[in-house]
Amino acid sequence: MRSSLLYLVLLAAPVAATAAENPLSAAQARGHALAAGVCATCHGVEATGNSPNAKALPFRALAGRYVPLTLQRHLAEIAETGHSNMPQINVHADDVQDIVAYINSLESPADPR
Ligand code: HEC
Repeated sequence: MRSSLLYLVLLAAPVAATAAENPLSAAQARGHALAAGVCATCHGVEATGNSPNAKALPFRALAGRYVPLTLQRHLAEIAETGHSNMPQINVHADDVQDIVAYINSLESPADPR
């Protein structure tokens, strides 16, 4: 009994620590929900893990690749026209903003450019 309780505490601790270190704003949380719903069939949208579609960059790699405004313009374009292997995505400009906010939250502060 005692050891199983300890096990639970050990399991829960890293999750709690991560949430406290990196709380998402409301916009970022919306962006995360959108990304998980619309983009996650191809892109890895979480802070860790690979993309289901090997050609689609995981979002945490996008965060380091574009400055926020460029990413936003790029995504707005993708939302309108789609791009090579990626179908047109049905997202509103506000959604794009939230997704960009989320993607940029994936950028590690320990990795400045
Ligand atoms: C059906 C699969 C699929 C879905 C769904 C998808 N993507 Fe992609 N995406 C890709 C692939 C494949 C690439 C890389 C190849 C390319 O650029 O055409 C890509 C590339 C990108 C790029 C980088 C483009 C560049 O110039 O490097 C961005 C940004 C992006 N996707 C954003 C999104 C967002 C945001 C969503 C959800 C709203 C999404 N994608 C949903 C497949 C997908």
